[in-house]
Amino acid sequence: MSKPLENKLALVTGSSRGIGAAIAIRLAAEGASVIVNYAASPARAEKVVKEIRDAGGKAEAVGADLSTIEGTNKLIASIDQAFGGSFGGRLDILVNNAGSVVFGPFMEGAEDSYDKHFNLNVRSVIALSKDAARRMIPQKWGRIINIGSIHGEHAHVSGVTMYVATKFAVHGFTRGLSRELGATGVTVNAVQPGFIDTELSPADDGSVAEAMKKLTSVGRFGRAEEIASAVAFLAQPESAFINGENLTVDGGWNA
Ligand SMILES: NC(=O)c1ccc[n+]([C@@H]2O[C@H](COP(=O)([O-])OP(=O)(O)OC[C@H]3O[C@@H](n4cnc5c(N)ncnc54)[C@H](O)[C@@H]3O)[C@@H](O)[C@H]2O)c1
Repeated sequence: MSKPLENKLALVTGSSRGIGAAIAIRLAAEGASVIVNYAASPARAEKVVKEIRDAGGKAEAVGADLSTIEGTNKLIASIDQAFGGSFGGRLDILVNNAGSVVFGPFMEGAEDSYDKHFNLNVRSVIALSKDAARRMIPQKWGRIINIGSIHGEHAHVSGVTMYVATKFAVHGFTRGLSRELGATGVTVNAVQPGFIDTELSPADDGSVAEAMKKLTSVGRFGRAEEIASAVAFLAQPESAFINGENLTVDGGWNA
C-alpha cells in the first residue's frame, strides 16, 4: 500500500533534535524523502537520518546555520541537489521549525542579540517560504508549515519578550502568505506548541513541570511526537481546505 506522502520531498529546518527530529521521522514514516537540516551538530543529524533509514525511510542531512543569510541561502541551494538531484529542484513540504529562545528580562538583554534572534526565528522562515513557494506554485501543490508557539498569540510568561515578538511575527506571516497563495494549491499553516519536553524546555525542570500540571487541562508537558502528528495532519493531501490556520497544540493551556 502506498504511503500518503510517497514521492514527496520535505525539508524540515532544525531537525537534528527535539520537535524537528520528531517531525522529520514522522514525515519519513509517511513516505516523504526528508532533508534533515542542522546548524551545529552533524552527528545528531546523522543519528536522525540513520533512524529514518533503519525504518525503511529516506533522509539526508544538510548543515546550514539559519541565523545567517549565507546559511539560509546555502540551505535553499541544497534543495536542487537533494537526493542526487532526483527531485529536480522540486519541493513539496517545507517545515520551518528551527528556532531559539533568549530567556531573561528584556531590559537586561544585549542589543546585538536582536538580529541573530530575528534572523533565525523570522527571516529564515520568510526567505525559505518564498523560495519554497517559487518551487511549489508551478506544481500546483505544496505545504508550508511553520512552527510558531502559544507565545505567538499570548505572552503567557515573563522574560521571553523577544521570543514572543518573533512568534507573533511567524503567526502574522502565516496568515498573510496563506491569503496570497490560497488559489495556487499551496497551503500555509502553523502549529503553535505549548510546553513540549525538549532540550529547549525540559520536563524535568521541576518548577515548570509543576506549573504545567495546573496550567494545562490535560495536566502535563507535551511530547515532540504530538507536534509531529499535527504537522503530518496538515501535510496530508486531504488537508487542502485548511489554510492560514495557526493550530494550537498545548494540552488546553490557551483554552
Ligand atoms: N519546546 C517547546 O516547549 C516549544 C514550545 C513552543 C514552540 N517551540 C518551537 O519549536 C521549535 C523547535 O523547538 P525545540 O523545543 O525542538 O527546540 P530545540 O532547542 O530542542 O531544537 C531547536 C532546533 O533548531 C535548531 N537550530 C537552532 N539554531 C539553529 C540555527 N541557527 N540554524 C539552524 N537550526 C538551528 C537546533 O539545531 C535544533 O534542531 C522552535 O521553533 C521553538 O520555538 C518549542
